[in-house]
Amino acid sequence: MHIANRTFIISGGASGLGLATVADLHSRGGYIAILDTNTDNGEKAVAELGAERVRFYECDITSTESIQAALDGIAAWIKETNAHIGALIPAAGVGFPGKLIDRKNQPIPLANLDFVLNINLRGVLDLIRLTLPLMTVSPPTAPDGERGVIVMVSSSAAFDGQPGQAAYAASKGAIRSLTLVLARDLAQYGIRAMSIAPSFFESSMTAAMSDKVRQSLMRVFEFPKRPGYGKDFAGMVRTCVENEMLNGECVRLDGATRMPSKM
Ligand SMILES: NC(=O)c1ccc[n+]([C@@H]2O[C@H](COP(=O)([O-])OP(=O)(O)OC[C@H]3O[C@@H](n4cnc5c(N)ncnc54)[C@H](O)[C@@H]3O)[C@@H](O)[C@H]2O)c1
Repeated sequence: MHIANRTFIISGGASGLGLATVADLHSRGGYIAILDTNTDNGEKAVAELGAERVRFYECDITSTESIQAALDGIAAWIKETNAHIGALIPAAGVGFPGKLIDRKNQPIPLANLDFVLNINLRGVLDLIRLTLPLMTVSPPTAPDGERGVIVMVSSSAAFDGQPGQAAYAASKGAIRSLTLVLARDLAQYGIRAMSIAPSFFESSMTAAMSDKVRQSLMRVFEFPKRPGYGKDFAGMVRTCVENEMLNGECVRLDGATRMPSKM
Protein backbone atom coordinates (compact mmCIF):
# COMPACT_ATOMS: atom_id res chain seq x y z
CA MET A 1 0.00 0.00 0.00
CA HIS A 2 1.37 3.40 -0.88
CA ILE A 3 1.20 6.14 1.73
CA ALA A 4 0.70 9.40 -0.16
CA ASN A 5 -2.93 10.40 -0.60
CA ARG A 6 -4.34 7.58 1.51
CA THR A 7 -5.99 8.03 4.90
CA PHE A 8 -4.56 6.37 8.00
CA ILE A 9 -6.72 5.83 11.07
CA ILE A 10 -4.60 5.65 14.22
CA SER A 11 -6.18 5.04 17.63
CA GLY A 12 -3.95 6.12 20.50
CA GLY A 13 -2.39 8.49 17.97
CA ALA A 14 -2.13 11.34 20.47
CA SER A 15 0.83 9.85 22.36
CA GLY A 16 3.83 7.53 22.28
CA LEU A 17 4.09 4.93 19.54
CA GLY A 18 0.84 6.02 17.90
CA LEU A 19 1.96 9.66 17.76
CA ALA A 20 5.33 8.70 16.25
CA THR A 21 3.41 6.79 13.57
CA VAL A 22 1.18 9.79 12.93
CA ALA A 23 4.24 11.98 12.31
CA ASP A 24 5.95 9.40 10.07
CA LEU A 25 2.98 8.65 7.82
CA HIS A 26 2.11 12.35 7.63
CA SER A 27 5.65 13.22 6.53
CA ARG A 28 5.20 10.80 3.63
CA GLY A 29 2.03 12.43 2.32
CA GLY A 30 -0.62 10.47 4.22
CA TYR A 31 -3.87 11.90 5.60
CA ILE A 32 -4.12 11.08 9.29
CA ALA A 33 -7.15 10.57 11.52
CA ILE A 34 -6.14 10.47 15.20
CA LEU A 35 -8.65 8.73 17.49
CA ASP A 36 -7.88 9.25 21.16
CA THR A 37 -9.40 10.19 24.50
CA ASN A 38 -6.61 12.71 25.14
CA THR A 39 -8.01 15.89 23.59
CA ASP A 40 -5.12 18.16 24.62
CA ASN A 41 -2.50 15.95 23.01
CA GLY A 42 -4.67 15.26 19.95
CA GLU A 43 -5.26 18.94 19.27
CA LYS A 44 -1.58 19.68 19.88
CA ALA A 45 -0.63 17.13 17.20
CA VAL A 46 -3.00 18.78 14.70
CA ALA A 47 -1.59 22.22 15.54
CA GLU A 48 1.98 20.97 15.05
CA LEU A 49 1.44 19.04 11.82
CA GLY A 50 -1.20 21.30 10.28
CA ALA A 51 -4.92 20.72 9.85
CA GLU A 52 -4.72 20.16 6.09
CA ARG A 53 -3.92 16.45 6.37
CA VAL A 54 -4.46 15.71 10.09
CA ARG A 55 -7.77 15.49 11.97
CA PHE A 56 -8.34 14.69 15.63
CA TYR A 57 -11.47 12.78 16.64
CA GLU A 58 -12.10 12.52 20.37
CA CYS A 59 -12.91 8.86 20.71
CA ASP A 60 -13.04 6.26 23.46
CA ILE A 61 -12.55 2.88 21.82
CA THR A 62 -14.48 1.15 24.60
CA SER A 63 -17.62 2.87 23.31
CA THR A 64 -19.17 1.67 20.05
CA GLU A 65 -21.08 4.96 19.69
CA SER A 66 -17.88 6.95 20.13
CA ILE A 67 -16.07 4.87 17.48
CA GLN A 68 -18.97 5.12 15.04
CA ALA A 69 -19.18 8.91 15.48
CA ALA A 70 -15.46 9.22 14.70
CA LEU A 71 -15.77 6.95 11.66
CA ASP A 72 -18.75 8.95 10.37
CA GLY A 73 -16.56 12.04 10.58
CA ILE A 74 -13.72 10.27 8.78
CA ALA A 75 -16.09 9.02 6.04
CA ALA A 76 -17.21 12.62 5.41
CA TRP A 77 -13.58 13.80 5.34
CA ILE A 78 -12.68 11.07 2.81
CA LYS A 79 -15.49 12.33 0.56
CA GLU A 80 -13.80 15.76 0.59
CA THR A 81 -10.22 14.55 0.09
CA ASN A 82 -10.82 11.41 -2.01
CA ALA A 83 -7.97 9.90 0.04
CA HIS A 84 -9.29 6.42 0.75
CA ILE A 85 -8.21 4.41 3.77
CA GLY A 86 -4.71 2.98 3.45
CA ALA A 87 -4.43 1.45 6.89
CA LEU A 88 -6.01 1.16 10.28
CA ILE A 89 -3.53 1.17 13.16
CA PRO A 90 -5.33 0.39 16.44
CA ALA A 91 -2.55 1.48 18.79
CA ALA A 92 -4.54 2.64 21.83
CA GLY A 93 -3.61 0.41 24.73
CA VAL A 94 -3.16 0.40 28.49
CA GLY A 95 -1.50 -1.63 31.21
CA PHE A 96 -2.74 -2.24 34.76
CA PRO A 97 -0.33 -4.64 36.46
CA GLY A 98 -1.51 -6.96 39.20
CA LYS A 99 -1.34 -10.64 40.10
CA LEU A 100 -4.60 -12.56 40.03
CA ILE A 101 -4.22 -13.27 43.74
CA ASP A 102 -2.54 -10.93 46.22
CA ARG A 103 -0.51 -11.54 49.40
CA LYS A 104 -3.68 -11.33 51.50
CA ASN A 105 -5.25 -14.10 49.39
CA GLN A 106 -7.62 -11.64 47.72
CA PRO A 107 -8.45 -12.12 44.05
CA ILE A 108 -7.79 -9.15 41.81
CA PRO A 109 -10.87 -6.93 41.27
CA LEU A 110 -12.56 -7.95 38.04
CA ALA A 111 -12.75 -4.26 37.09
CA ASN A 112 -8.93 -4.19 36.81
CA LEU A 113 -8.99 -7.03 34.30
CA ASP A 114 -11.94 -5.54 32.40
CA PHE A 115 -10.18 -2.18 32.13
CA VAL A 116 -7.27 -3.73 30.22
CA LEU A 117 -9.24 -6.25 28.17
CA ASN A 118 -11.90 -3.72 27.16
CA ILE A 119 -9.37 -1.32 25.67
CA ASN A 120 -6.64 -3.67 24.42
CA LEU A 121 -8.86 -6.40 22.99
CA ARG A 122 -12.59 -5.64 22.85
CA GLY A 123 -11.98 -2.02 21.80
CA VAL A 124 -9.50 -3.07 19.10
CA LEU A 125 -11.93 -5.66 17.71
CA ASP A 126 -14.78 -3.16 17.76
CA LEU A 127 -12.70 -0.52 15.98
CA ILE A 128 -11.64 -3.01 13.30
CA ARG A 129 -15.19 -4.32 12.90
CA LEU A 130 -16.64 -0.85 12.38
CA THR A 131 -13.82 0.39 10.11
CA LEU A 132 -14.04 -2.55 7.72
CA PRO A 133 -17.15 -1.32 5.87
CA LEU A 134 -15.13 1.78 4.90
CA MET A 135 -12.09 -0.28 3.85
CA THR A 136 -13.89 -2.87 1.75
CA VAL A 137 -15.29 -0.17 -0.56
CA SER A 138 -11.94 1.55 -1.11
CA PRO A 139 -10.78 1.43 -4.74
CA PRO A 140 -8.24 -1.40 -5.09
CA THR A 141 -4.65 -0.50 -5.93
CA ALA A 142 -2.76 -2.01 -8.87
CA PRO A 143 -1.49 -4.59 -9.60
CA ASP A 144 -2.86 -6.94 -6.93
CA GLY A 145 -6.10 -5.26 -5.92
CA GLU A 146 -4.98 -4.27 -2.44
CA ARG A 147 -7.48 -2.21 -0.46
CA GLY A 148 -5.66 -1.66 2.82
CA VAL A 149 -3.85 -3.09 5.78
CA ILE A 150 -4.58 -3.40 9.49
CA VAL A 151 -1.46 -3.06 11.67
CA MET A 152 -2.25 -4.00 15.26
CA VAL A 153 -0.02 -3.58 18.32
CA SER A 154 0.80 -6.69 20.29
CA SER A 155 3.70 -6.78 22.78
CA SER A 156 6.63 -8.87 23.93
CA ALA A 157 4.17 -9.77 26.73
CA ALA A 158 2.40 -11.94 24.15
CA PHE A 159 5.56 -14.12 24.10
CA ASP A 160 7.37 -13.55 27.42
CA GLY A 161 4.68 -12.35 29.81
CA GLN A 162 6.15 -11.11 33.08
CA PRO A 163 4.74 -11.47 36.60
CA GLY A 164 1.68 -9.30 37.15
CA GLN A 165 0.86 -9.04 33.45
CA ALA A 166 -2.01 -11.55 33.28
CA ALA A 167 -4.59 -9.24 31.70
CA TYR A 168 -2.07 -7.35 29.57
CA ALA A 169 -0.38 -10.53 28.27
CA ALA A 170 -3.78 -12.13 27.61
CA SER A 171 -4.89 -9.10 25.60
CA LYS A 172 -1.67 -8.85 23.61
CA GLY A 173 -1.54 -12.63 23.06
CA ALA A 174 -5.05 -12.35 21.66
CA ILE A 175 -3.92 -9.64 19.22
CA ARG A 176 -1.10 -11.91 18.12
CA SER A 177 -3.52 -14.84 17.61
CA LEU A 178 -5.96 -12.63 15.76
CA THR A 179 -3.45 -11.63 13.11
CA LEU A 180 -3.59 -14.73 10.92
CA VAL A 181 -7.36 -15.05 11.31
CA LEU A 182 -7.87 -11.49 10.08
CA ALA A 183 -5.49 -12.05 7.17
CA ARG A 184 -7.48 -15.11 6.16
CA ASP A 185 -10.91 -13.53 6.70
CA LEU A 186 -10.04 -10.36 4.80
CA ALA A 187 -7.98 -11.78 1.95
CA GLN A 188 -11.04 -11.80 -0.32
CA TYR A 189 -11.20 -8.00 0.02
CA GLY A 190 -7.49 -7.41 -0.60
CA ILE A 191 -7.01 -6.32 3.01
CA ARG A 192 -3.91 -7.52 4.90
CA ALA A 193 -3.40 -7.86 8.65
CA MET A 194 -0.17 -7.58 10.62
CA SER A 195 0.77 -7.04 14.23
CA ILE A 196 3.92 -5.66 15.82
CA ALA A 197 5.17 -6.85 19.21
CA PRO A 198 7.44 -4.18 20.71
CA SER A 199 9.45 -4.85 23.86
CA PHE A 200 10.37 -1.87 26.04
CA PHE A 201 9.75 1.37 24.17
CA GLU A 202 9.98 4.94 25.49
CA SER A 203 6.47 6.39 25.78
CA SER A 204 4.17 7.85 28.40
CA MET A 205 3.16 4.25 29.22
CA THR A 206 6.70 3.40 30.30
CA ALA A 207 7.78 6.85 31.57
CA ALA A 208 6.66 6.04 35.11
CA MET A 209 8.94 3.00 35.32
CA SER A 210 11.42 3.18 38.21
CA ASP A 211 15.17 3.59 37.67
CA LYS A 212 15.66 0.16 39.25
CA VAL A 213 13.49 -1.53 36.60
CA ARG A 214 15.17 0.49 33.85
CA GLN A 215 18.62 -0.61 35.04
CA SER A 216 17.46 -4.24 35.13
CA LEU A 217 16.14 -3.90 31.61
CA MET A 218 19.50 -2.58 30.40
CA ARG A 219 20.99 -5.92 31.49
CA VAL A 220 18.58 -7.99 29.41
CA PHE A 221 18.84 -5.96 26.20
CA GLU A 222 20.92 -7.80 23.58
CA PHE A 223 21.52 -5.35 20.74
CA PRO A 224 20.93 -2.44 20.60
CA LYS A 225 21.39 -1.85 24.35
CA ARG A 226 18.66 0.73 24.62
CA PRO A 227 14.90 1.01 24.75
CA GLY A 228 13.02 1.29 21.48
CA TYR A 229 11.99 4.74 20.28
CA GLY A 230 8.87 5.91 18.53
CA LYS A 231 10.74 6.18 15.25
CA ASP A 232 11.73 2.48 15.45
CA PHE A 233 8.09 1.53 15.83
CA ALA A 234 6.85 3.94 13.16
CA GLY A 235 9.43 2.55 10.73
CA MET A 236 8.07 -0.96 11.28
CA VAL A 237 4.49 0.22 10.72
CA ARG A 238 5.62 1.84 7.47
CA THR A 239 7.25 -1.42 6.36
CA CYS A 240 4.01 -3.31 7.16
CA VAL A 241 2.05 -0.76 5.12
CA GLU A 242 4.38 -0.72 2.12
CA ASN A 243 5.40 -4.37 1.81
CA GLU A 244 2.47 -6.24 0.33
CA MET A 245 3.96 -9.66 1.13
CA LEU A 246 3.75 -9.01 4.87
CA ASN A 247 0.48 -10.58 5.93
CA GLY A 248 -0.84 -12.67 8.80
CA GLU A 249 2.27 -12.35 10.97
CA CYS A 250 3.15 -10.87 14.35
CA VAL A 251 6.63 -9.32 14.11
CA ARG A 252 8.71 -9.01 17.26
CA LEU A 253 10.39 -5.60 17.50
CA ASP A 254 12.75 -6.11 20.40
CA GLY A 255 16.44 -6.25 19.42
CA ALA A 256 16.42 -9.95 20.47
CA THR A 257 15.46 -9.03 24.05
CA ARG A 258 13.58 -11.75 25.90
CA MET A 259 11.79 -10.46 28.99
CA PRO A 260 12.87 -12.41 32.11
CA SER A 261 10.58 -13.61 34.89
CA LYS A 262 12.30 -11.45 37.50
CA MET A 263 13.77 -7.98 36.95
N1 LIG B 1 5.73 1.47 25.26
C1 LIG B 1 6.01 0.18 25.29
O1 LIG B 1 7.05 -0.25 25.82
C2 LIG B 1 5.07 -0.81 24.63
C3 LIG B 1 5.51 -2.14 24.48
C4 LIG B 1 4.67 -3.07 23.88
C5 LIG B 1 3.42 -2.67 23.42
N2 LIG B 1 3.02 -1.39 23.58
C6 LIG B 1 1.69 -1.03 23.07
O2 LIG B 1 1.81 0.06 22.19
C7 LIG B 1 0.59 0.78 22.17
C8 LIG B 1 0.88 2.26 22.39
O3 LIG B 1 1.39 2.40 23.70
P1 LIG B 1 2.33 3.61 24.13
O4 LIG B 1 3.49 3.03 24.83
O5 LIG B 1 2.57 4.51 22.97
O6 LIG B 1 1.40 4.28 25.26
P2 LIG B 1 0.92 5.78 25.47
O7 LIG B 1 0.30 5.75 26.82
O8 LIG B 1 2.00 6.76 25.20
O9 LIG B 1 -0.22 5.98 24.37
C9 LIG B 1 -1.45 5.31 24.43
C10 LIG B 1 -2.53 6.24 23.88
O10 LIG B 1 -3.77 5.50 23.92
C11 LIG B 1 -4.79 6.40 24.33
N3 LIG B 1 -5.90 5.64 24.89
C12 LIG B 1 -5.94 4.94 26.05
N4 LIG B 1 -7.17 4.44 26.25
C13 LIG B 1 -7.92 4.82 25.19
C14 LIG B 1 -9.27 4.59 24.82
N5 LIG B 1 -10.12 3.91 25.60
N6 LIG B 1 -9.71 5.11 23.65
C15 LIG B 1 -8.88 5.84 22.86
N7 LIG B 1 -7.60 6.09 23.17
C16 LIG B 1 -7.13 5.59 24.32
C17 LIG B 1 -4.11 7.28 25.38
O11 LIG B 1 -4.83 8.48 25.58
C18 LIG B 1 -2.76 7.50 24.74
O12 LIG B 1 -2.76 8.66 23.92
C19 LIG B 1 -0.29 0.15 23.25
O13 LIG B 1 -1.20 -0.74 22.63
C20 LIG B 1 0.70 -0.59 24.11
O14 LIG B 1 0.11 -1.67 24.81
C21 LIG B 1 3.80 -0.44 24.16
